[in-house]
Amino acid sequence: MRANEGHHHLSGGNVVSFEKLAVLFGGSAEAVTQTTDMVGEFYTNLLSELTAITEHQWRADSPRGLIKGFMLSGPPGTGKTTMAKRLTYELGRKFQAEDEDAPPVVMAFIDGGEISRSRYGESEERIRDIFMHAKSGFTAAGQRSVLLFDDVESIFMSRGSQHAKEWHFSQDSVFFHSIDELDTTKSIIVLTSNRPDLIDEAIRDRFLSYTVDYPDLDTLIQMIAQIPVLQELSGSEHAAMKDELVKAVKKGEVRSMRDAQRFALRRYVAKLLNRKSMALEHTD
Ligand SMILES: Nc1ncnc2c1ncn2[C@@H]1O[C@H](COP(=O)(O)OP(=O)(O)OP(=O)(O)O)[C@@H](O)[C@H]1O
Ligand SMILES: [Mg+2]
Repeated sequence: MRANEGHHHLSGGNVVSFEKLAVLFGGSAEAVTQTTDMVGEFYTNLLSELTAITEHQWRADSPRGLIKGFMLSGPPGTGKTTMAKRLTYELGRKFQAEDEDAPPVVMAFIDGGEISRSRYGESEERIRDIFMHAKSGFTAAGQRSVLLFDDVESIFMSRGSQHAKEWHFSQDSVFFHSIDELDTTKSIIVLTSNRPDLIDEAIRDRFLSYTVDYPDLDTLIQMIAQIPVLQELSGSEHAAMKDELVKAVKKGEVRSMRDAQRFALRRYVAKLLNRKSMALEHTD
């Protein structure tokens, strides 16, 4: 397929803002070209699995593939959103390497919280719009895409749940219809959630589900070791920080990838100031 001529200006930058999508849930379509280095065996294995499945479907002849997407659930800050971005990047690498005229693989980012706050009717319209763009290409004809519905528990709330409102059902049916029609040779959906228990079973049934739990200690150690700014530290400073991290993990103060990042940032600032920072310590 010939790529649309307009794509050339897109390939340079990291972020491709797309006018139409910019008004969708504060969403955006990005050509993901840079991400953090992904550490941890669990994460690299999961990434290869998701990439292999998607690649297989994108290369298949049938646009009605069995797998519409993946649902990643787990506690805050464990790397679910990062995984979706990184999947987009991997797919981009594979498919663009083969054909440099192909438009970039984009990730359409849809903020679940934002959708569930929008007015009755508006959210359905927007979901429809996203899938329409997936079909036609976001920034160029025939473009491949990853549709990330991030933090979806508030959109796809279970029908039995106390908070379920009538319009959730209607959103569900627009969504079901759209995923049934999804061209699996061009697009894949990723859903992320902290609260899979709140999500309608019918949604969960349509996706391959994965748990992204708190990582093990080794992974947390690797996580802080790869933070670019910490490369300034000396060997002994690194070792000291690692010892402190181990203690913080044992005390349960650091559990997620995000916790480890904040931990390292605080230590870095403390070292810079030569005393403990006055900045607030965020917790999830
Ligand atoms: N495998 C990984 N290797 C290195 N860094 C990672 C990895 N996974 C996540 N991170 C980093 O950890 C931080 C938290 O990750 P992310 O935002 O993806 O978590 P999340 O599960 O989506 O959180 P939330 O549930 O709050 O949305 C990010 O800054 C990300 O760069
Ligand atoms: Mg997230």
